[in-house]
Amino acid sequence: MLQLNGRPEIRLSGLRERHFGEIFLNASRSRLSTEEGLNHVARFLDSFVVQGNLWLVFKKEGRSLSRLLYESERAPGSNGSESKDKRLFEVVRPSAWWRWLKTTKKGQREMRNLLRQLLLAVKACHDRNITHRDLKPENMVVQEPVDSTNKSIKWPANLSLRLIDFGSAINPFTLQHLYGSAGPSRNEHTPEYAPPEALLFDHWMHFHPNQTKAHDIWSVGVIMLEIVLGTPHVFQISARTRVLLDRSLGGWDEESKNVAYMLRAFMEMCIFLPRVPPRHHRNETVNHQVRYQLASMDCSEAALQRKIQQRDPLGLGMPDIWSFRLLRQLLQWYPEDRVSVDEALSHPYFHRNLQR
Ligand SMILES: Nc1ncnc2c1ncn2[C@@H]1O[C@H](COP(=O)(O)OP(=O)(O)O)[C@@H](O)[C@H]1O
Ligand SMILES: [Mg+2]
Repeated sequence: MLQLNGRPEIRLSGLRERHFGEIFLNASRSRLSTEEGLNHVARFLDSFVVQGNLWLVFKKEGRSLSRLLYESERAPGSNGSESKDKRLFEVVRPSAWWRWLKTTKKGQREMRNLLRQLLLAVKACHDRNITHRDLKPENMVVQEPVDSTNKSIKWPANLSLRLIDFGSAINPFTLQHLYGSAGPSRNEHTPEYAPPEALLFDHWMHFHPNQTKAHDIWSVGVIMLEIVLGTPHVFQISARTRVLLDRSLGGWDEESKNVAYMLRAFMEMCIFLPRVPPRHHRNETVNHQVRYQLASMDCSEAALQRKIQQRDPLGLGMPDIWSFRLLRQLLQWYPEDRVSVDEALSHPYFHRNLQR
């Protein structure tokens, strides 16, 4: 439910949800669901206004993927007293289901199944010139097949996935009519899943109107890495690197510092490789250790796979070379270098037998 006379950004977000809901509703009516991607977008059913409140009705499509991937426990030291924000006392760790996903053949097939369905949903958007802009496990709802009450299956498998939350999505119509005069901004996306161009330039889409779809492609890459690493903090630097960096970032505000940490994490993943500045531009007081680490960064396939393996709590890393290569094509620094959704869907990762 949404108050039409409430805050403008919330009102507009609801109107965008309705706009995109209607587009997909009409598409599934007229094409009788021959388009596979439509089976992976949440079903919008109806909307109505009662006493100035807009009601949007969606079919309940299951539970969010993040609830399956993680389980929470109370942090030691919290005495159980009620707090306004209970999450303050929770520690998130990867679930037993995630462990199954990582360590069994069936689990790896399931991971591929989920990523394929996500890409099919993205294809349904991109084929209509829609960029979702807020792809993340919380916005992916999954449901077990109806016949899976079969007791022999221990873990939720063969899940069907649907994409929700089109409140941040853009297309030519919403850009013109449903984003107010300021246009879309970084307020509507989640920084952890946003590509470099969106992190660095608030109004990047004005400069790259043909590349907004690449925003979603990057987010799919982050989600893939998140599933592999079992953490929602994919681009995280070590505490030690952070301390070293902080020495050079004195006086920066928190937001800028966070962007700097993110850039550093992109470097560690070989996504962003600045050229070492010419000698006469170097400020010799800036930490030598940081510079030395940068110059010695090994970006070979083997080195990068090892890095991912080291960050995986199970020490396994990417399931196979094909998933690794797809990941690299999704997480490209320049939007124009990222694969399109069709290219990603026809990648060997989705068409080869799993090796492990
Ligand atoms: N169609 C749906 N089916 C099942 N759960 C849903 C559906 N829509 C939303 N939810 C649940 O509600 C949560 C918030 O919904 P969402 O539309 O993403 O709102 P917000 O903009 O606040 O993130 C989701 O993470 C999901 O758990
Ligand atoms: Mg959401």
